[in-house]
Amino acid sequence: MLHASPQIDLRTIRSHPDYWYPVAWSHELRAGKVIGTRYAGIPVALARPQNGGRVFALEDRCAHRQVPLSQGILQGDAVRCCYHGWAYDRFGRCHNIPYLGKCHHHVRVFPCREQNGMIFIFPGDASKADATPLSPELAQTANPAYKTRFFGSTIRCHYSFMHENLMDMNHQCMHFKQVGQMKPRFLGQKREPGVVEARYSFARIGGKQPLGEAIIFGERRDTSERFQNRDIMTIRTEYPYQTLRIQTGDNCLVMDLWIAYVPQSADELTNRTFGLLSIKRPKIPFLLDLAWPILIAFTNRIFAEDCEIVELEQKAWRDLGGDHNVEIFPVINTLRDLLRECGIPPDHHYA
Ligand code: FES
Ligand SMILES: [Fe+2]
Repeated sequence: MLHASPQIDLRTIRSHPDYWYPVAWSHELRAGKVIGTRYAGIPVALARPQNGGRVFALEDRCAHRQVPLSQGILQGDAVRCCYHGWAYDRFGRCHNIPYLGKCHHHVRVFPCREQNGMIFIFPGDASKADATPLSPELAQTANPAYKTRFFGSTIRCHYSFMHENLMDMNHQCMHFKQVGQMKPRFLGQKREPGVVEARYSFARIGGKQPLGEAIIFGERRDTSERFQNRDIMTIRTEYPYQTLRIQTGDNCLVMDLWIAYVPQSADELTNRTFGLLSIKRPKIPFLLDLAWPILIAFTNRIFAEDCEIVELEQKAWRDLGGDHNVEIFPVINTLRDLLRECGIPPDHHYA
């Protein structure tokens, strides 16, 4: 692990590539197709062979003249470039050139896995891929007792703003219109290598519980004493992923959110968010299916508010030429240290 000095502006730290990053939803890549995606300025072509062949990932630049391979087609198990027809197998090797014959050129290959509706690549040192676990659990996507929403978008900010936003529950006033008046109580933090965890409870001090929230908790809650500070929210950054879990007083996990923020541009000042939001099904399971559109609208509104504010933070960073944050909340400072330590400083050249 590299130890960047705390003076280094966090928004100039690059994500560490020796992790598995989602780069597409499974449903975006149909059998027999190639699509283009990216990680931190590196263009990536994903291909899914016909007949159930495993997805593979190549650098999205033809070895001949660097045009995107994702503009080409999949022929059998090979990606054929649209320009002069050089074809690459899943190991990135071009065996022969249509108009010349034998060829020893190749393109870079990324270790690639598909799991829980997402396609992941390992953009760093490929020899470390097998020994690197894909992620902590991917919400409850595989658990039939939960219904999972897949969501996300491209957000114009450094991934560190996203981590801070989710872990910082002191911004409830921004969501006032959506959730009413909620008072968080910070219960403590945990710091382990590569991990920061914050725990909160909540008290409703005004406003009515929105229907979307009642769907998540599986019951109606009001401002009465018995609901105050009863539910525990645990937010955890386990580099480079983040989770948010809500447990009700009876120790039941009612919501399990998993998110990854994948840098898009080379300066890493944009990210594509991949989120999995699992909600526990109530006793009458189909009720959640009926209420799903309400839940989606509710969570969308909150997500939109968060996206807007982090983009404004990034804009201020650009306008002011750096980070002028006066952060005083200890867990956020702990989180910033973690993101600095786990990432790559701007002057460091990662081979
Ligand atoms: S640019 Fe790809 S084959 Fe020529
Ligand atoms: Fe928020």
